[in-house]
Amino acid sequence: MKKFYITTPIYYVNDVPHIGHLYTTVMADIMARWKRLNGFDVFFLTGTDEHGAKLINTIHSTDMDVLQSFCNKMSAKFKTTWDLLNISYTDFIRTTEYRHCITVNSIVESLFKKGFLFSKEYTGLYCVGCERFYTIKDLDENQCCVFHKNKLILQSEKNYFFKLSYFKDKLLERITNSKHKEYINIQPEERKKEIIGKLHLGLEDISLSRTRTNVNWGIPIPFDETQTVYVWIDALINYISGIGYSNDRNKFKHYWPVDIHFMAKDILWFHAVIWPAILMGLGYPLPKKIFSHGFFTLNGYKMSKSLNNVIYPQDLVNKYGVDATRYLIINIIPFNTDGNISYLDLTLKYNTDLANNLGNLFFRIIKMIEKYFNLDLPYVKKPNILLAQKISRYFKINFCNNINELKFQKALTILQQGLTFINKQIEIDSPWVLHKHNRTNINMCLSSYLQAIAVVALHILPFMPTVSQTIWKTICAKDNIDNVATKYFTNNNVIPEGGFLPIKGKISMINIIFPRLV
Ligand code: MSP
Repeated sequence: MKKFYITTPIYYVNDVPHIGHLYTTVMADIMARWKRLNGFDVFFLTGTDEHGAKLINTIHSTDMDVLQSFCNKMSAKFKTTWDLLNISYTDFIRTTEYRHCITVNSIVESLFKKGFLFSKEYTGLYCVGCERFYTIKDLDENQCCVFHKNKLILQSEKNYFFKLSYFKDKLLERITNSKHKEYINIQPEERKKEIIGKLHLGLEDISLSRTRTNVNWGIPIPFDETQTVYVWIDALINYISGIGYSNDRNKFKHYWPVDIHFMAKDILWFHAVIWPAILMGLGYPLPKKIFSHGFFTLNGYKMSKSLNNVIYPQDLVNKYGVDATRYLIINIIPFNTDGNISYLDLTLKYNTDLANNLGNLFFRIIKMIEKYFNLDLPYVKKPNILLAQKISRYFKINFCNNINELKFQKALTILQQGLTFINKQIEIDSPWVLHKHNRTNINMCLSSYLQAIAVVALHILPFMPTVSQTIWKTICAKDNIDNVATKYFTNNNVIPEGGFLPIKGKISMINIIFPRLV
């Protein structure tokens, strides 16, 4: 089995999960589920980033026990939210865990031994929100952080520095040359260009530690107890501590390098430049793909707690339900741009795509089976899978390829077209006319709609796992949907000759899956 390793950023615990975090996490979950259905041995890692000045500032305490119990409480909120949203993560890493701390120790020690660290006095402008230093040219017209809109703090410390500048040409080569055996595929293209442009301007060495007197809430530098590891270096290492770097070497060797790191554009630099440089310093293979999406904004501002403009996942779940929330969140703005998010747009999309198209089509078919067959599966000598095959072929070329290229929004447009096609076929066949004159044909038609709906259920499985199971069970489709889907997707999307339905079966009448909202 080929492996596939997927990550989300590890989220700061100073904030409760909002739909910005959810966006990245659902995206990664869809890919994880998709790859599993395509026969891959998937490892999907998410987690929480728990050290640093930001946390001390949030809870106004430097007491280790207070900090740790706050982290426990907040980290649990992320877990609960991901469980609520059906996020199929393989492991959840926390940077205060022992397995992580010893990995950070060993990485910092190695970089030191290899001569990539040196100590230096440094003065710079620090944004606690971003947990990083900026230069004047990075700031907005009011000399504030472009993301947090706050004034920066002038800080002066003696720190250990990582020789990032040494890696400039190596990075440029690996980012630009797709033939390189360690090519890092940064997507989308526009952001990759920005990274390349910035790299050409020059690369400065970066501070890898903070003095303990300023930031005590961190992992101590193993060879200098007066310093703690800079929170970003600490955080990036989660990608290897979470797959067993220090406690299960075989697992680490099996899953590393990562196949896709998902994140938003705010932290692309850390992943596309600093992280690969550290890995090169250590002599480990580099990430294969780094995908950075845009921001959810409200009135033009990035949604974030510091700007007090957030929508919480629970709000959306209360209004739309879990599966619709997953569908809407990744479909409401294109991945590569920022986009305003409003309840009006979400409800419109919900009604158009889910209530009117998918939900209505499904209910319409079930209603006809109730009316004409008293909920028995229509009997056919040989299943008619022509419509199902048409849909399947259309999805294979369009829907599946788009998912592989991380174009989820395009894939879902194709899905909607498929549903419209089935709806049109029903209009053409007009079972309500056949019912009066032609019993054989009405059986054939309705059974073919069910086979087509089964194909739809297989394709929406990574996006809306619960609804997809409900559809599958309602139509009495054979076997467990996960097994059938894996067989189908790993076998070139071939529909079994006998279709997906048994010869006999009774449909259980269900409620409308996506009630229309006003
Ligand atoms: N802890 C660091 C990441 C370390 S990873 C080694 C961090 N944490 S964060 O809590 O601020 O999360 C940032 C990530 O959350 C973004 O990169 C993005 O994935 C997601 N988002 C947070 N707000 C968002 C929006 N408003 N819109 C879209 N995604 C957002 O940075």
